[in-house]
Amino acid sequence: MDRIRIRGGNKLNGTIHISGAKNAALPLMIIPLLSPETVTLHNVPRLADVSSLRRIMQNHGVDITTAGKRAGQREDSGETLKISAKTIVDTTAPYELVSKMRASFWVLGPLIARMGEAKVSLPGGCAIGTRPVDMHLQAMEKLGAECVVEQGYVIAKAKNGLKGGHISFAKVSVGATHAALMASVLAHGDTTIENAATEPEITDVAQCLIKMGAKIEGLGTRSLNITGVTSLHGAEHTVIADRIEAGTYAMAVGMTGGDVTLRGARADTLEDVILTLRRAGLEVTANNEGLRVQRNGSGILPVDITTDPFPGFPTDLQAQFMGLMTMAKGKSHIRETIFENRFMHVQELVRLGADIHLHGDMAEVRGVAKLTGADVMATDLRASVSLVIAALAAEGETMLHRVYHLDRGFEDLQGKLSAVGADVARIAGA
Ligand code: EPU
Repeated sequence: MDRIRIRGGNKLNGTIHISGAKNAALPLMIIPLLSPETVTLHNVPRLADVSSLRRIMQNHGVDITTAGKRAGQREDSGETLKISAKTIVDTTAPYELVSKMRASFWVLGPLIARMGEAKVSLPGGCAIGTRPVDMHLQAMEKLGAECVVEQGYVIAKAKNGLKGGHISFAKVSVGATHAALMASVLAHGDTTIENAATEPEITDVAQCLIKMGAKIEGLGTRSLNITGVTSLHGAEHTVIADRIEAGTYAMAVGMTGGDVTLRGARADTLEDVILTLRRAGLEVTANNEGLRVQRNGSGILPVDITTDPFPGFPTDLQAQFMGLMTMAKGKSHIRETIFENRFMHVQELVRLGADIHLHGDMAEVRGVAKLTGADVMATDLRASVSLVIAALAAEGETMLHRVYHLDRGFEDLQGKLSAVGADVARIAGA
């Protein structure tokens, strides 16, 4: 297995291009299941999760081709995928495929909506928590599907098609909101979704559905109204910039000091993060290229955060922010409210010299004057990249193992960091 070697101490200066968002690209690759016509997606990031989902969609009979570069298209602007679900040959998503990537469970809604049936493996637990799918199933049932769980599979049927209904989620869930949206756009009649997630990736997917002919109102609010249509057509859509990737590199600059422009980053998707970083002593300014992040001279100030659904501080940046706080000039408190087990990076940050104590869902981080390189590994994507952030400022050499987690969600991480001056090398496994 490949490893990443980081020699800390270099400031970051220059420009990093922000890729298309993983968590928008994945559901956007799933919604073409709702139409027999082709959906063209631009700015799809080159990620292991995208490749895995490609295989899963092909298993349903979906044809996916990568289009050539358009005139004037930048080298780093992602891929264009043409996705066509003219005929769906299989409504089963088997364990071997779903267990590799959780988001593939989201095929459930579109398969029932278009085909009246689906058999999808339960995704199972994962490194950050139990992650149940009860609210996905409740949403399908509210839309008239019958769902049973047998031998690890959800078997859902709606013989006469789905019917509009009233869905009210007990808590905010990105995945369950995607599921409810994807299923209700083809249901007979009107659907309301209360307590919907408002993450920018949901809005991006809804905008693509609208281009395909769906009728959705209330985008960006906790209450979505959908009027079902009988069919959807093809469309062309550009994946929104990855706010988590942008936030991650902003924190890397905070850690090392320097001056980096995050080209394509969208301030409107990062408001709480930007305010938090400013309180930590970074200068963050929006300009027509994206976001410019600077930290010169003065150190990092401690800031307390609590993760929350959008527009709150994202759980997907919690580990990275903890990485930044390890070298703050004082004590900070980091509370994780979305996933019960998303502190797997703590022990590894401690290996680099961080001073962190866990109290239930809260981590107390006492800033240290220096971190020192070590061998580290992480059990999930965001935890892995928090170790990269810490390593960029650590004295000496850090060797990060299990790099495949990073490949799932960060396009060309080491290329992007090297281009702004970091000493990062990927070492091929034996
Ligand atoms: N939940 C339930 N029942 C459900 C669904 C969710 O109890 O039926 C709970 C979860 O256990 C969790 C909370 O609701 O405690 C929120 O989970 P959510 O459903 O919002 O998470 P998700 O849809 O499974 C997506 C992202 C995650 C991100 C979360 C929260 C994708 C592919 N995944 O997951 O991204 O952390 O929303 O914002 O969009 C990542 O990219 O590293 C990642 C984990």
